[in-house]
Amino acid sequence: METPSYARDKQLVGGAWEAPGYIKHRRLIGWIADMVALCKPDSVHWCDGSQEEYDQLCNLLVEKGTFIRLNDKLRPNSFLARSDPSDVARMEDRTFICSLSRTEAGPTNNWVEPRQMHKTLNKLFDGCMRGRTMYVIPFSMGPLGSHISYIGVQLSDSAYVAVNMRIMTRMGRAVYDVLGEDGQFVPCMHSVGMPLEPGQQDVPWPCSKDEKYIVHFPEERSIWSYGSGYGGNALLGKKCFALRIASNIARDEGWMAEHMLIMGVESPQGEKTYVAAAFPSACGKTNFAMLIPPPAFEGWKVTTVGDDIAWIKLNSKDKKLHAINPEAGFFGVAPGTNVKTNPNAMATISRNTIFTNVALTPEGDVWWEGMTDTPPANLIDWQGQPWTPDCGRKAAHPNARFTVPASQCPSIDPRWEDPEGVPIDAFIFGGRRSTVAPLVFQAFNWPYGVYFAATMGSEMTAAAVGKIGEVRRDPFAMLPFAGYHMASYINHWLKIGRSIPNPPRIFLVNWFRKDENGNYLWPGFGENMRVLKWIVERAHTRAAGLEMALGRVPVYEDLDWRGLENFTREDFERVMSVDRELWKNEILSHEELFIKLYDRLPKEMLYVRGLLLSSLWSEPEWVDRQE
Ligand code: GTP
Ligand code: SPV
Ligand code: MN
Repeated sequence: METPSYARDKQLVGGAWEAPGYIKHRRLIGWIADMVALCKPDSVHWCDGSQEEYDQLCNLLVEKGTFIRLNDKLRPNSFLARSDPSDVARMEDRTFICSLSRTEAGPTNNWVEPRQMHKTLNKLFDGCMRGRTMYVIPFSMGPLGSHISYIGVQLSDSAYVAVNMRIMTRMGRAVYDVLGEDGQFVPCMHSVGMPLEPGQQDVPWPCSKDEKYIVHFPEERSIWSYGSGYGGNALLGKKCFALRIASNIARDEGWMAEHMLIMGVESPQGEKTYVAAAFPSACGKTNFAMLIPPPAFEGWKVTTVGDDIAWIKLNSKDKKLHAINPEAGFFGVAPGTNVKTNPNAMATISRNTIFTNVALTPEGDVWWEGMTDTPPANLIDWQGQPWTPDCGRKAAHPNARFTVPASQCPSIDPRWEDPEGVPIDAFIFGGRRSTVAPLVFQAFNWPYGVYFAATMGSEMTAAAVGKIGEVRRDPFAMLPFAGYHMASYINHWLKIGRSIPNPPRIFLVNWFRKDENGNYLWPGFGENMRVLKWIVERAHTRAAGLEMALGRVPVYEDLDWRGLENFTREDFERVMSVDRELWKNEILSHEELFIKLYDRLPKEMLYVRGLLLSSLWSEPEWVDRQE
C-alpha cells in the first residue's frame, strides 16, 4: 500500500525542515520559514485536508485527552472537547485592528500602533511553539478556485484548530494549486501560547491564561492570534479573515462582507426568493437559516445557504446583489437547540461533529440545556465534573458549540456553493430586545434601513466575554467584526444602495420581546415563517404595509395565522407596539453612538433621526375650545 500523503509530506526535523515539493509559492515558503524560525516548533505538519489526515489528527487529540470519542452508535465519528474554563468565547477586549492610523480603526475598535504591536507579537511568538507541532493549514474562503474566493494560510500549534478548519473552510492541498507560484493569500498566525519545556506534561486544552491577542493588520492583510484556542479567536478563516480583513478588502473593491445568514424561501408556486439577515452573535441566525415552516404553510420551504457570514457583490448581469457563504461548515450555538426549535440542526449534527463544552451522558452522547425538558441522569458537565439538575451550575457552557460540515444539513440549498452566489431581495436586521423594538417593520427606503441597522440595539450574549444581558448598540451586528471605522462602514452601505437601480428592501425584526414577567411575547423559531412570508411578499411588492412612525408594518390581517389561532389580535398588537416615550430614549442612545462616530458620521443618519423624531414626538393634547 502506498504511504498516505499526510505521512509522506510530514517533515519532522527539529530546526531543519523542508516544504513539500507541491508547494510552488516561494513567498509563502519564505514566510513559513520565517515563522518556523520565530516560533521554533519541534516539527511541522503540512495539512493536506484528506479524510485520513482528519481521522489521524482526531485520534491524536483523543490520545492527548483533548477529545473524547462519542458513542459511535449514537453519534458516529463525533467528538467532545472541553476547553479551559478561561477560554470559552470571543474576547472583544483583546481584539485589535492595527491600521496605520488610529482614525482608520475608528472609535469602536481597539487600536495599537502597528509597529508597536508587531514588537509585542514578535516577543510573544518567539519560541511559543516549543515542544509542539506547527500545522500548516491552507484554506479557501468560498468555493475553491472561484473568482469570489480568497485564500488564507493559517499556521497553528493546535491540532484542534486544524480539524475544525477542515470542517469550516475548504482546507487542503488543492489550495496550493490555486495559489500557484505567486497567488495572493492572507497569512494567519496562531498560537495557543503555551510552549512546553522538555519533559513538561501537556494539558488537554492548552492556552495562555494571562495574555491573549487577536490582532488584525488591515493594510498588510494579515492576522496574528495568540493565547486562545476557542472559536472566533482561533479559527482565523471565520471572524478574523472573512469579516474583519474581508470588510477592508470589500470596502476597497466595492462589495460587502457581512455577519449574515443567507436563506432561500420557496413559495408553493415554486417562486424562490433569497434573503440575508444580520442578527448579533447568538441571536438566532443558525435557527432562522434552517427554519422549518409550520404545518399550515404547506408548500413553503426554506433552504440554507449560510448561517453566519455573507460576502455580497453586485452582479453585473442582473444588476442585483448576489451573496455567497464563504464558509464550508457551521460553528453553531448548542444550548437551546432541540428537535422542536431546530430539527434541521439536530439532523445535521447527528454525525461527523465536533462538540465543544457540552455535557456528556453516561452512554457517551452529548447534552445541553434546552436539548430535552428533563436532563438525562448522571451527566458529566462541560468541565468534566459530575452534574445534577440541582447543583446550581449549567451542564453545558452557554456558548458551547458544534462544528459540522454544512453539506450535512438537510435544508442545504442546491446553490449553496454556486460561485455566482444567490440574488438577494431583502435584508433583515434584528437584535435581542426584551422591550422597545417591535416584532417587524419595513424601513421606508434604503437610507432609513441603513439608519435602523446602524443603530440596532441588542442584549449581549455569551458568545463574547462581557456583560451578558446589557443592551448595546451593535451596528449591522458588526460591532465586533468591522475591520475599520464604523462610520465609514455605514457610509459604505449608503454608497452600495446608491449604486444599485433597485436595492433589496430592508426589514427590522425582534423575536425576543418579553412581557412584564419575563416570558417571550412571540413564539419564535418555526413561527417566524409568518413574518418571513410577509417580508417576502413585501419584497415582491405584493403584501400590504401600513405606514407608521418607524416604517411600514403588517396589521393583524396581513399575516397568515393558520395553525396559530390562539395568538390573538391583542397578542399581536402587544408584540408590535411602539411606545413613544421609550423610543425617545432609544433615539437618545442612538445619539450616543453618533457622537462617538462624529468625525465620519454620514449626514443621512442625522436627517433620518430628525424625521423619526418628527413622527415620534407627541404634542400635549389640544385644548378643546368648543366647551
Ligand atoms: P452566532 O453563531 O454566535 O453568530 O449566533 P447565531 O445568530 O447563529 O445564533 P443561534 O441561531 O445559534 O441562536 C442562539 C440562541 O438564540 C439560542 O439559544 C436559540 O435558542 C435562541 N433563538 C434563536 N431563534 C430564536 C427565536 O426565534 N426565539 C427565541 N426566543 N429564541 C431564539
Ligand atoms: C459569533 O460570536 O458571532 C460566532 C461565534 O459566530 S465565533 O466564531 O466564536 O465568533
Ligand atoms: Mn457569528
